[in-house]
Amino acid sequence: MTGASRGIGEATARLLAARGMRVVVNYLRSGTAAEEVVAGIEAAGGRAMAAQADVREAAAVESMIKRVREVWGGIDVLVHNALTPYAIKPFRDMTWAELGGKLDDEMRAAFAVTKAVLPAMTERRWGRIIYLGTGLSRRPREGMIALGTAKAALAQFARYLAQELGPLGITVNVVEPGPVEETRMAAVLDEGIRRRQVAATPLGRLAHPGDVAQAVAFYAAEDNAFMTGTTAAVNGGMAMY
Ligand SMILES: NC(=O)c1ccc[n+]([C@@H]2O[C@H](COP(=O)([O-])OP(=O)(O)OC[C@H]3O[C@@H](n4cnc5c(N)ncnc54)[C@H](OP(=O)(O)O)[C@@H]3O)[C@@H](O)[C@H]2O)c1
Repeated sequence: MTGASRGIGEATARLLAARGMRVVVNYLRSGTAAEEVVAGIEAAGGRAMAAQADVREAAAVESMIKRVREVWGGIDVLVHNALTPYAIKPFRDMTWAELGGKLDDEMRAAFAVTKAVLPAMTERRWGRIIYLGTGLSRRPREGMIALGTAKAALAQFARYLAQELGPLGITVNVVEPGPVEETRMAAVLDEGIRRRQVAATPLGRLAHPGDVAQAVAFYAAEDNAFMTGTTAAVNGGMAMY
């Protein structure tokens, strides 16, 4: 589980552990927060380990996966959730370094984590891969061109992988949340925009991290065997597609 020290990643790590999975709590800098997530999981009777690695660095990801395999043997599920930084601004003010940098970070990370887990999944001819996308990859919002474009690339990458990896028993799906409360994104969201988003949501509120975790857990489940190349929107009906 990449980026599991807080937000959606933390909620998902806790839910997957509660459902009996051993969970790797990956993080970049928040070692203390990651250890707290692990301690919380263990206190609830689950099993977890914290693992630092910058998902944009293939060598760091490879050595994290090597360690996990040494300790726990295999890897059955990859949830790639880590959110790398990006510029929030209109295209007219954006530089290529900002747009190209986000595209490169997003795809480099997805490439590295997927490459790293494939040998273990291929060996067992079984696997579940879930990427965190965003509704912004379909519906533009002011200032979000870098994230929305990068996540649109990620969503298509997932479909290609679903096609190629299906014969190996590996499913690949994307969870696309709308705006999620209690995340870093939510903290920078203007209150007026937030109110408009709630008003545009049939279920009458924004998502909590636990709502997104439910969709990830659904795809990760052992008995969910015949869904691949799909996308689950977790947005309370704010956008329907
Ligand atoms: N929040 C929303 O409203 C929303 C909406 C739609 C989609 N999403 C998607 O959901 C996912 C999670 O979002 P979030 O809002 O929960 O994120 P967040 O609160 O910003 O948390 C990001 C997580 O990623 C980790 N991380 C960042 N850079 C990393 C790197 N280079 N290597 C490894 N870990 C790294 C962070 O670790 P450290 O704490 O160590 O930095 C943290 O655990 C993202 O893919 C995002 O695009 C979020």
